[in-house]
Amino acid sequence: MSDLTGRHVVLGVTGGIAVYKACEVVSRLRKMGAAVHVIMTKNATEFVAPLTFETLSNHPVVTDTFARPETWEVEHIALAKRADVFVIAPATANCLAKMVCGIADDMLTTTVLATKAPVLVAPTMNTGMWTAEATRQNVGTLKTRGVRFVGPESGMLACGDTGAGRMSEPVEIVEAIVGLLCPKQDMAGLRVMVTAGATRERFDPVRYMTNDSSGKMGFAVAEAARARGAEVTVIAGHTTAQEPQGVNIVRVDATLELRDAVVSRAPDADIVIQAAAPADYRFAETHAEKYKKRKGEPLVVELVENPDIAAEVGRMKRPGQTLVGFAAETGQKLSNARQKLDKKNLDLIVFNDVTAPGAGFNVDTNIATLVTRESETACSLRTKRELADDILDAVMALRTK
Ligand code: PMT
Repeated sequence: MSDLTGRHVVLGVTGGIAVYKACEVVSRLRKMGAAVHVIMTKNATEFVAPLTFETLSNHPVVTDTFARPETWEVEHIALAKRADVFVIAPATANCLAKMVCGIADDMLTTTVLATKAPVLVAPTMNTGMWTAEATRQNVGTLKTRGVRFVGPESGMLACGDTGAGRMSEPVEIVEAIVGLLCPKQDMAGLRVMVTAGATRERFDPVRYMTNDSSGKMGFAVAEAARARGAEVTVIAGHTTAQEPQGVNIVRVDATLELRDAVVSRAPDADIVIQAAAPADYRFAETHAEKYKKRKGEPLVVELVENPDIAAEVGRMKRPGQTLVGFAAETGQKLSNARQKLDKKNLDLIVFNDVTAPGAGFNVDTNIATLVTRESETACSLRTKRELADDILDAVMALRTK
């Protein structure tokens, strides 16, 4: 059993028949040593009395924003700040919709809006509500903002229908909470090199050729590897994403520089993950001074091929090393990804169709297929941070084979 002593879980409870299961969540968390602070909506109190949660959590239950007029403002900010994780179980369709819009009309929605803690929701609702376009879009929006979901499960619902919408079991919700509070350290002692961002090929001091890579995907992988205990070096081209903390970042400009930085460090890395988008070509001729426009004359430039860095790292591959590449394709061209897997001597390639909505360049989410020699694993729309953990799970599974 994980030790959650000293960790604060704020549990928001909204009105649904699954409220009784939230009692078991509190009880399990308390057995692990966590301090649990419960906020109930008015509707939730119709299902289970606050006294039950008060007794189980050993803390007062907050039920109404205006119950203590002299303290409520402080109280909701205090709870938002105290949370190491903010859980909403059960979370109704109404609650998800309010979170999307930033509506803060009760203590629960006010507090979740203010928190900076990771947010986990366990939805529960009728199948029709869960599959409704409005809910689909709300879930997608919350996921892109980094809200984590556990469930819902499929099965017989309280209303008598059968389908998706049943709240996950308390044991699964608690497992998800533990996952957020105590990320696994399965990469401790491993050295991971990640490439991220776009390279720039200079034509003259003011003009260059590049692409839309923001570095979000590579940085997410670096962040996830660090959180799992790895020692991480990022070789980054040009990026607009927020840099990850606690990793060593080496900056490069053009593909040739990226090549030198990667090839010189690759022998020391246990795992190399190449999420960067290096320019495949560079200008054959470059100019030290700004190239003067010649009116009426077309400008014809010659491009020469850049080295394929992943292929070079693949040729240098040493025993015990795991190599991961990305395949940025336009369209569902999984066969191209397979070819790259072989040509670059990779163990895993992350195929992403960069034309699919919510996938590819400069967005917070991605849709990918993890391709190894033996398997193909589809990863539907999720945050790049979530995909990063899926990639690392696949890498660790390959390394223990
Ligand atoms: O940075 P973001 O905005 O988050 O966008 C993420 C991403 C779309 C850039 C990322 O998910 C992605 O797909 N990265 C790979 C982009 C790419 O160059 O794909 P490719 O299919 O052209 O190359 C295949 C692999 O070879 C890649 O691992 C690439 O890093 C590598 N490569 C490519 C060209 C080159 N000259 N040398 C290489 O090593």
